[in-house]
Amino acid sequence: MKIIGTGRSHPSLVVTNEMLTHILDTSDEWITSRTGIKERRVISSENLEDLAIDAAKKALADANMDAKDLDYIICANVVNEFVSPAMSCIIQGAIGATCPCFDLNGACVGFIYALEIAESFYRSGKYKNILIVCAEEPSRMVNWHDRTASVLFGDGAGAVVLTEGDNIKATKMSASCNWDRLYQKHELQYSPYNSKPNSNLPLVMHGQDVFMFATKAAIRDISNVLKQSGIKPDEVDHFLIHQANLRIIKSIKDFLRQPEEKFPLNIHRYGNTSSASVPILLDEVNKEGKLKRGDLIVLSAFGAGFVSGACILEW
Ligand code: ACO
Repeated sequence: MKIIGTGRSHPSLVVTNEMLTHILDTSDEWITSRTGIKERRVISSENLEDLAIDAAKKALADANMDAKDLDYIICANVVNEFVSPAMSCIIQGAIGATCPCFDLNGACVGFIYALEIAESFYRSGKYKNILIVCAEEPSRMVNWHDRTASVLFGDGAGAVVLTEGDNIKATKMSASCNWDRLYQKHELQYSPYNSKPNSNLPLVMHGQDVFMFATKAAIRDISNVLKQSGIKPDEVDHFLIHQANLRIIKSIKDFLRQPEEKFPLNIHRYGNTSSASVPILLDEVNKEGKLKRGDLIVLSAFGAGFVSGACILEW
């Protein structure tokens, strides 16, 4: 397949590091030096589905495609206000599409999982035009009294439209179960026959373990897609890495011995927006006119599971 349109949408509220010092024992200096984050967008008056629909409409407009011409919609999402139906159904109705759709929970790697699935759908010969929307609201997952996790995340949505083409050169998906390092349990009601208590359970994160996993996994997956495609790091024009921590991105850059200019960043403005991170960054570089036809782009992400994935595509 090939990407022919991109879009993104952000909540209007900007929460700066300074604002967080009023509710948490933290500082701009600590957050900036440990993570690279200066501010993030947090949902206040909007709904996550509004952002998802807005990003989808922008990607369709950019692709110059009518929603009726879509053959499939995949939405990557970890949590939203609906247990059912899937967020993709809400998007499908709002944009006026008539195609089937489903959600996938690939944590922060949802976009790359969705790309690989879209490519497989296309290769099956049944589907040609596919919309991927990644919409995430980690601000509903974290405990806002826990400074170790709440400062890292932000909300947002990113979307792409794909059609037939031969531009996805290689993909590599991985999973290694270490779920207890980064997880959140549902707040669901137990039946009267179950002795477990009902409770609100926020995100649990063992930051240093996640950091070590993320660095190793990204380097391994990127090396894999480069090897599969026979492309050398020097030939890649842009490395779009999941914006979770500036120090993780720097470690990957140092390993690949590539210049800073090849690693576009927006972590300072948005923090970690989970699966929306890579498509939001892709839309930014696209709309800024930084992508030329034929450019080689590596995408890489990692997240809870642990799961990770990389992809190399031609623009
Ligand atoms: N403000 C001030 N101090 C803090 C804060 C904060 N927000 N958070 C932690 N600290 C303190 C700790 O309590 C600790 O204090 P102590 O030494 O008195 O015990 C000290 O800072 C150092 O804490 P560490 O955890 O050792 O700090 P570290 O350098 O490892 O950075 C961080 C922590 C930023 C969380 C880092 O481990 C990290 O980024 N890990 C990856 C997390 C991540 O990316 N998660 C999501 C990825 S997967 C996905 O996207 C779903």
